[in-house]
Amino acid sequence: MKPLIIALALILAAPLPAYAHPRTPRDLRELAHQQGIRIGTAVDLAALRGEADYRTVLNREFTHVTAENAMKWESVEPERGVFIWRDADALVENARRNRQRVRGHTLVWHNQLPAWLTTGVAEGKIDDRELRDILRDHITTQVRRYKGKIRAWDVVNEVVEEDGTLRQSLWLTHLGPGYIADAFRWAHRADPQAKLFINDYNLEWNAPKIETTLSIVKDLQARGVPIHGIGFQGHLGIQYDYPGDWANVMRRFADLGLEIAVTELDVRMVLPVTEEKLATQADYYRRALTDCLSVEACRELTVWGFTDRHSWVPGWFDGEGAACLLDENLAPKPAYRALLSVKRPR
Ligand code: G3I
Repeated sequence: MKPLIIALALILAAPLPAYAHPRTPRDLRELAHQQGIRIGTAVDLAALRGEADYRTVLNREFTHVTAENAMKWESVEPERGVFIWRDADALVENARRNRQRVRGHTLVWHNQLPAWLTTGVAEGKIDDRELRDILRDHITTQVRRYKGKIRAWDVVNEVVEEDGTLRQSLWLTHLGPGYIADAFRWAHRADPQAKLFINDYNLEWNAPKIETTLSIVKDLQARGVPIHGIGFQGHLGIQYDYPGDWANVMRRFADLGLEIAVTELDVRMVLPVTEEKLATQADYYRRALTDCLSVEACRELTVWGFTDRHSWVPGWFDGEGAACLLDENLAPKPAYRALLSVKRPR
């Protein structure tokens, strides 16, 4: 009798498999727990400071956060040797208080570099040897500062062009392709526990980009360079077809042993907003989460802002917007409810 009771107790105490959860989660945080993944958002630091309703939703809904701009080079070292950590620190501290993990974004990029660096190089005041030292020091300083506090870093961002060649950035031009391996090695040395990612857009569907990025990863692995994950930014638009092969692309990277993350998901539309467009948008969000859940190695889905009140889209694409899960008043859109209804594919 006794062993039977113990066996019964063990069965009852075991967590239900995610697909067997009986009810729709009440919010994204509960969805994340039910599905065993991290659900994140990019954070606008001015909004975090100044808008109580923004803060409430952020801290209620998300288990993971990325600084939208606050950890980029121009933000943390606007003048040479002058570091401003106020915003980045505030994000990390807010995350700690609200049980959120942090993705560091980003260490090496061709955009949002400080003017002292770009003009210094352009005017020949910084030579290639010094530039390499500057990059090493930047990575080391920033990763060390958040050692143990940042789960994953986007070490290199957008290093491949649409045609599959390496991006003609200041880094490639002056340091050669070896800067990629160097960046991963320096980041690993500064925080051996942090998961190190390569991150890019259009990687959901663009064949030349996919093939080159796979080769970069294989090459780094063959040389023993510490790389742990691939980030698919996931900037989608409903005027384009949904990238139907995305889950297979994720699997190809997972087969190399990488963690998969959707790092910057948003789904824009040509304005004005209509019910029909919102329904299509909801379907894109639903499919993105379903694709992630269908690949064992995909354990993070981060949206690039959660409210249309603060989104990069209208500033970058004329006449487009409404790309987020919540509207400008923080009311959930159909896309939000679509995410809550996703079940893990069996
Ligand atoms: O900081 C200045 C501020 O001082 C000034 O008053 C204001 C006036 O326009 O501009 C501010 O800078 C803006 C910055 O965001 C901070 O808000 C820049 O103009 C603006 O261009 C910049 O845009 C950011 C963009 O990256 C830059 O490339 C977006 O907010 C940010 O969402 C976007 O994020 C990128 C990811 O990092 C990488 N993947 C693509 C994604 C979307 O472009």
